[in-house]
Amino acid sequence: MSEVRRHFEANGQGHVFAFYESLSDDEKASLDEQAAAIDLDEIAELTVTLIQSNNHESAKISDGIEPANYIPLPNKEGGDPARWIEAQAKGEAALRAGRVAAFTVAGGQGTRLGYDGPKGTFGVTPVLKKSLFQVFAEKILASSQIFGRPIPWYIMTSRINHEASEAFFEANDYFGLSSDRVHFFSQGLMPAVDAEGKILLADKGEIALSPDGHGGSLRALVRSGAVRQMEADGIDIISYFQVDNPLIRCIDPSFIGFHLETGSELSSKMVPKAYAGEKVGVFCEEGDKALVLEYSDLPDKFARATDENGELLYRAGSIAIHLFNRDFVNRLGSGAEESARLPFHLAHKKVSYLDTTGNVQSPAEPNAYKFEMFVFDALPFAANPVIIETAREDDFSPVKNANGVDSAVTSSEDQLRQFARWAIAAGIEVETDDTGLPKVAFEVSPLFGDTTGRFASAWDALEDKPELTDGLVLV
Ligand code: UTP
Repeated sequence: MSEVRRHFEANGQGHVFAFYESLSDDEKASLDEQAAAIDLDEIAELTVTLIQSNNHESAKISDGIEPANYIPLPNKEGGDPARWIEAQAKGEAALRAGRVAAFTVAGGQGTRLGYDGPKGTFGVTPVLKKSLFQVFAEKILASSQIFGRPIPWYIMTSRINHEASEAFFEANDYFGLSSDRVHFFSQGLMPAVDAEGKILLADKGEIALSPDGHGGSLRALVRSGAVRQMEADGIDIISYFQVDNPLIRCIDPSFIGFHLETGSELSSKMVPKAYAGEKVGVFCEEGDKALVLEYSDLPDKFARATDENGELLYRAGSIAIHLFNRDFVNRLGSGAEESARLPFHLAHKKVSYLDTTGNVQSPAEPNAYKFEMFVFDALPFAANPVIIETAREDDFSPVKNANGVDSAVTSSEDQLRQFARWAIAAGIEVETDDTGLPKVAFEVSPLFGDTTGRFASAWDALEDKPELTDGLVLV
């Protein structure tokens, strides 16, 4: 009997090997490998602390919690334009010095979108349907050109989409980036378990594994060697964003400047919540620590409370855009400090599994527990956390769902509104509706894709200015 199998037997998980003798040698090796990567002590502990304690909910609001302070946009109440200009200059200097890497978490399963393939390969732009990966690649390329330094890009995948993601970049010549500056690595996996903590099999030689959450990115950055490589390359700031948001400013000099100015280990962007019940996490403070409370943990009376100006008190919505210090990632991701580990959260889900007779069962009701870490749980561990405001329309419109809110349609319309604003700022006449949506669908290349006025000067320089018509692409 193999070492790993003995270990599983001894820990009450021997059933994982119930069909072992019927497997081919390759399948046996694969099952051994999957099993060896699982920390059974961790699973046992999580079973007791999360599943069996009936403590299915994460932290509730405590007395010391207050709304988070944040740096308002220059044109908002309390905003300080000079401070933003200074921050931008600081950020630009860091970029010219090559201190910044882009980092995308793309290991999720994207079940809500229901698209067959890595989410990053999903076409999102209004006319050309450029993929999310291409949009980010071109924005990163544009920033590299502006600051005269190639900006490396780290992309976290999972076992399910790793090969397909990498193949997509290869097939598309890395969208103009240099292939040795684009680094892929896979995140960790966690097994699904039943209510007794028994690990589920997906098939005779396959454990029911799923990615360990976007919070798994911290340990994956360390385990994959990415952090070491960043250190060797003189990179100490990691610009974190999710794979589903085509409006993101992948590289934002002002944000970087504020991060540096305050000596922050982990910085975040907020947008004011659109309405009290909006389902986004909210930045809060407890003493000198920042944290994100999930919307389900924010009691209604707090969610609705307003300040003297009638604005929501707990308004700082989290949009999953962060800057990490490399050393901070190393500290948390290496797990060296017992007291600085990200907690796991529990999700009760429907998971197909192999029953004891070897038949696959697809339950109609949730039957299994999955364990995931959330990246914002790193916030309370960070020194000098800073939160800055950003304009939602220039940074955030995710593609989460197949239809309705946060779908391909809403995101495409938000891109169109942004293109219209840029075009109008460049002096082009654009007819829009009341929401700023242009009457014709046109597209501006992400190679101009920021607010530095690149698009306006390129437009100025054009001798033959095209008519704004449906399907026009400004490259
Ligand atoms: P979501 O929470 O939207 O999850 O991830 P998801 O898996 O993409 O989609 P659903 O919930 O199944 O529909 C937010 C971001 O975190 C990444 C996703 O790829 C996305 O960029 N993520 C999520 C990971 O990288 N790993 C994970 O384990 C989970």
